[in-house]
Amino acid sequence: MWLNLEDKMVSGSDLSTFRHLKKIYRRVFSFGNSIFVGSNSFFPSINELVAVGSLLTFLLAVTCAYFYLFPNSHQIARGYAIPSSVYSIGKCNLFEGKWVIDGSYPLYNASECPFAEQGFNCLANGRKDEGYLKWRWKPKNCDIPRFNVHVILEHLRGKRLVFVGDSLSRTQWESLICMLITGIADKKAVYEVNGNQITKQIRFLGVKFSTYDFTVEYYRSVFLVLPGPPPRQAPKRVKSTLRLDKLDDVSKEWADADILIFNTGHWWTKTKLFQMGSYFQMNGSLKLGMPIMTAFEKALNAWASWVDSAVNPNKTLIFFRTFESSHWSGGKRNTCKVSRHPMSRTKGRERSPISDIIIKVVKNMSAHVTPLHVTPMVAYRSDAHVGTWSDDPTVPDCSHWCLPGVPDMWNEILFTYLLDKGGISP
Ligand SMILES: *[C@@H]1O[C@H](CO)[C@@H](O)[C@H](O)[C@H]1NC(C)=O
Ligand SMILES: *[C@@H]1O[C@H](CO)[C@@H](O)[C@H](O)[C@H]1NC(C)=O
Ligand SMILES: *[C@@H]1O[C@H](CO)[C@@H](O)[C@H](O)[C@H]1NC(C)=O
Ligand SMILES: *[C@@H]1O[C@H](CO)[C@@H](O)[C@H](O)[C@H]1NC(C)=O
Repeated sequence: MWLNLEDKMVSGSDLSTFRHLKKIYRRVFSFGNSIFVGSNSFFPSINELVAVGSLLTFLLAVTCAYFYLFPNSHQIARGYAIPSSVYSIGKCNLFEGKWVIDGSYPLYNASECPFAEQGFNCLANGRKDEGYLKWRWKPKNCDIPRFNVHVILEHLRGKRLVFVGDSLSRTQWESLICMLITGIADKKAVYEVNGNQITKQIRFLGVKFSTYDFTVEYYRSVFLVLPGPPPRQAPKRVKSTLRLDKLDDVSKEWADADILIFNTGHWWTKTKLFQMGSYFQMNGSLKLGMPIMTAFEKALNAWASWVDSAVNPNKTLIFFRTFESSHWSGGKRNTCKVSRHPMSRTKGRERSPISDIIIKVVKNMSAHVTPLHVTPMVAYRSDAHVGTWSDDPTVPDCSHWCLPGVPDMWNEILFTYLLDKGGISP
């Protein structure tokens, strides 16, 4: 399930000494540059700084010595012997790491992207501090390849990419389009297939990149399973039901995508279900007392059976994004204070029962589904939410993210998988 990027990087035949050196340098440098480490330590200790300094000096000395002794640079490529075990540490878990400052971010300007909805364009909505735009996710044992728009555009040629889920899927969809559109000179060559505008309720949006003949689609299906009317003779409080054993009826549209990215989670709450009169139904009968997390697991199992029966694993790459931690605070969890910097501690937000269930269900499937386990990485990012810089500043928002921002990193991770597999069609 986890990538072995490191091995690939080191054994890649195109790997030159220069890149190797650069990588080592970046590694060492990013160590000194890091603010948030998995272990919650805030700044590197003096010892670490001294160690880094000494290592740099040592590397410089070794490099100079080699250049002096072996002026033929090709020989240096062979002779430069940092034992690979020191730098390639087995498997790379892309979701274990830290946020590091990187001045080359953000990757686009939302005001120049016709597909970034105004509600997520925090800068345009008056946000003044820009530090939140300058963070890059750095996995512990490897690097996420730098975003190269032309490589990705070429890679997606002729494909159909489909996001399914709630508004957080819509955000990732918008982010992906805004990232890719930076590589397109003629912006008119990128358009919504039905000429629709982005709204919060819209069921389907499909953006075509005509030059490369691919589409990036979004289907709104906040629970993934089928909502329906209450059965006859249901108690008055039951205004609608959620069929836990049946997938949303738009699911037939998803099946033959080349890349499918699912999410669900934020709607599985009492406020969005029971308080709205929505109750669970399974095997034709109401399940009034069923706890939400039990229902969530049943719904995911229905999704898993659908994937196993309806999706061709030889054609489609399937991803499931885990819960995107929100940052509500206060006793009633209804206060939204967007910070200026990422939090140094995740305060339990790195875990979520929803993510646990997603990972459990996905592991038990016969189809290969890659979890995009973003819960721990986004747990730090209390600085990156929309807050009051949305289209409606009277409703603070500590669930959604500013664009550009955190969802861009989810897409960079997605691209890492796409490129690592060496192609969408096996
Ligand atoms: C983004 O683009 C808009 C419109 O072109 C421009 O006014 C603004 O200064 C840009 N913002 C940044 C941060 O570059
Ligand atoms: C629904 O029916 C199936 C088989 O008929 C059974 O295994 C399952 O336990 C039932 N689920 C519920 C929640 O009643
Ligand atoms: C997928 O490919 C494998 C191996 O080539 C083959 O055995 C299997 O039948 C294929 N499955 C589908 C659904 O096409
Ligand atoms: C694993 O999948 C099987 C069906 O393929 C299902 O019966 C079983 O309940 C699942 N187990 C878990 C732990 O979800």
